[in-house]
Amino acid sequence: MASVDSPGHHAMTEAEFRMFSELVRSYCGLHFASESRYLLEKRVGRRMLELEIPSFAAYHYRLRNDNSLDPELAKLVDELTTNETYFLRERNQLRALLEEILPELGLRRRDQGGGPLNIWSAGCSSGEEPYSIVMLALEAGLLPGRDLRVYASDISRPALLKARRGVYREASFREMDASTRRKYFSEKDGLWRISDAVKTHVDFIHLNLFDRSRIALLNQMDVILCRNVIIYFDAETKRSAIQTFYEKLRPAGFLLLGHSESLINLSSAFELRHLQREMVYRRPAPGDILQDRFHGVAAAAIAGVERAAGPEAVAASGRERPR
Ligand SMILES: C[S@@+](CC[C@H](N)C(=O)[O-])C[C@H]1O[C@@H](n2cnc3c(N)ncnc32)[C@H](O)[C@@H]1O
Repeated sequence: MASVDSPGHHAMTEAEFRMFSELVRSYCGLHFASESRYLLEKRVGRRMLELEIPSFAAYHYRLRNDNSLDPELAKLVDELTTNETYFLRERNQLRALLEEILPELGLRRRDQGGGPLNIWSAGCSSGEEPYSIVMLALEAGLLPGRDLRVYASDISRPALLKARRGVYREASFREMDASTRRKYFSEKDGLWRISDAVKTHVDFIHLNLFDRSRIALLNQMDVILCRNVIIYFDAETKRSAIQTFYEKLRPAGFLLLGHSESLINLSSAFELRHLQREMVYRRPAPGDILQDRFHGVAAAAIAGVERAAGPEAVAASGRERPR
């Protein structure tokens, strides 16, 4: 049972902490290690106070047996997400997207008959990331709608509300120069409103990355940015999110993670691509000759075997020698 040591403050027992952290983890991937127990206790306690629910057990029961259209679990999760973001965050990666990735994908798309490239900002928070992509695209002379389509999703409804409103405070502009800001925003009372020329080109969607049935409805993507999102997940839920991205990417599509994130120990399905200033992941396409070290070693070994066996053996195996 929950111990209540002062009015309005609920102290979580170890068992309660495990019950709540598992419920949250299985719903949306957010992982609370024992060091974060106080944080979980505080946020859960806040919702309980608002709802006037006296014990963790009663609140947990309510969360598990809630069939309403506006589930309480979603509201609790809104309290638990970290929504820190700003325009042009990890700018070199965004430049690589515009200068190297989109041109490469654009050429490929042209060969396949054309059409816009689909970009998905997964975990977009209050919208600074997808809006940055549209601004950079406009600066590069691309036409959103014709050359690219930007989709952006988040589990947090308050963050999405802010994204759709498109009004920002000073802190969101820490990486943006004054002239770009003046070009795409108008100021009133210290708040900056994004112009319709940018705003209308992002499709915001409320989406939990673990809601497979809704994710199935999304288009196939050419680029997925999921930056500074999976750092809050444990290994198992990270793997599940990465598998979803693999499935939603077209072959030859790119996955961009945050600078502190990688696929080490999570997935070997992607190719690590070294761009001029960045490393990104790419879903291999059929017929790709992979450039990584292990494929190099394997190709050399196969070539050695073929040389030893002679051309007849190669012809009999039905496989051509790598050129
Ligand atoms: C720190 S923000 C990152 C924002 C932006 N990508 C960036 O790098 O600046 C992390 C976002 O991931 C969202 N998030 C966390 N778990 C999620 C889930 N299961 N499904 C969708 N979004 C999630 C949070 O609501 C939060 O807005």
